[in-house]
Amino acid sequence: MTTTGISKRDWVALEHKYYQGTFKRQPVTFVRGQGTRVWDSDGKEYLDLVAGIAVNVLGHCHPAIVKAVQEQVTQLVHVSNLYYNTRQIELAELLGELSGGMRSFFSNSGAEANEGAIKLARKFGRAHKNGAFEVISMERSFHGRTLATTAATGQAFYQATWVPLPEGFKQVPFNDLDALKAAISDTTVAVLLEAVQGEGGIWSGDPAYIQGVRKLCDERNLVMICDEVQAGMGRTGKFFSWEHFGVVPDMVTMAKGLAGGVPIGAMLTGPRTDLFEAGDHGTTFGGNPIACAAGIATIKTILDENLLENAARIGAYCHSKFEAFCSKYPFIDSPRGIGLMQAVNVTHHLAPVIVQQALEHGLLMNALGTSTLRIVPPLNITKADVDEATDLLDKALADVANMPVSQA
Ligand SMILES: Cc1ncc(COP(=O)(O)O)c(C=O)c1O
Repeated sequence: MTTTGISKRDWVALEHKYYQGTFKRQPVTFVRGQGTRVWDSDGKEYLDLVAGIAVNVLGHCHPAIVKAVQEQVTQLVHVSNLYYNTRQIELAELLGELSGGMRSFFSNSGAEANEGAIKLARKFGRAHKNGAFEVISMERSFHGRTLATTAATGQAFYQATWVPLPEGFKQVPFNDLDALKAAISDTTVAVLLEAVQGEGGIWSGDPAYIQGVRKLCDERNLVMICDEVQAGMGRTGKFFSWEHFGVVPDMVTMAKGLAGGVPIGAMLTGPRTDLFEAGDHGTTFGGNPIACAAGIATIKTILDENLLENAARIGAYCHSKFEAFCSKYPFIDSPRGIGLMQAVNVTHHLAPVIVQQALEHGLLMNALGTSTLRIVPPLNITKADVDEATDLLDKALADVANMPVSQA
């Protein structure tokens, strides 16, 4: 046993033997987390700016989530969707209040939430648009790993191996209203977009563009679907990122931070597209009482602890820190982001090297491809945490600056 109480085993070798090789993992095995910190199997502490990639919105093991889950597991772990369950309805009520009256359907992941939205859009097409079915999404977008959401994802890397993909999907450049207009045909039923793109590199929609998409959807009787899986739950300083643009989509998808780390997905719809009837869609686990109890606790804590305001304020502080680094180190530039969704460009494909070096110094960051560094920390991160992270990152960047070219 180690000081962490976890048996000392060769986790990397065991993973290699027993787990499929789908993940390009960092060489570290985590066993415990608290707030903005995680500890590895050797007891080393890390400051976590990845937060499960925008999942641990309250940090690790927040007392409100721990209490909600602990209480729920002693009362009701699971009940079929053949029956009503109070937690599911309470979470839907909260989301309804926050979204201006939308109704929810819960699933287990972001991809599944988007699948539900695509199905619902197709039902709208059947009911109101002569069977139109095509969904137009954006280049650089990410919507999930199922076949349909892969087809909707605007990055060739994710699609290439899986052709033929399901039909009815097309991508156009983000922030280009003319390209979107030109792509719309009689078969088009919906526009699916992240108002702030996450996996594609943290790119915010232009206000005129997002408003233009809404107007176009109204004019052409199309469904506007906002994928809030990454940018939702307060990450950008508003509960939903579309609130920055003064629009309301017809459907919204959520997952990641919705239950603060417990798996959940949600598809919300406004009245215009609220067309699902009994039997149209379903799930065994979606809306499970434990996940919903965690979701209720997460949302209430975000609201009670003013974490939207914290995300906006500390996000701006992180941005200023990235700006300062750009003046100091020639290999990083173009800081960008909104709230606690921040990124910088990295030249010479150094992003993975910086991530690796930061890990050595006890800081978790994330590389998007080889040219972008991203942080999506907990919404309750403090200025002191950011100062500490900045010192650690400075050390990592100095290491990289001093590396012989061959090593970097
Ligand atoms: C915007 C967006 N949509 C959908 C997904 C897919 O979510 P999940 O991995 O829970 O299926 C992700 C995951 O990164 C995402 O960022």
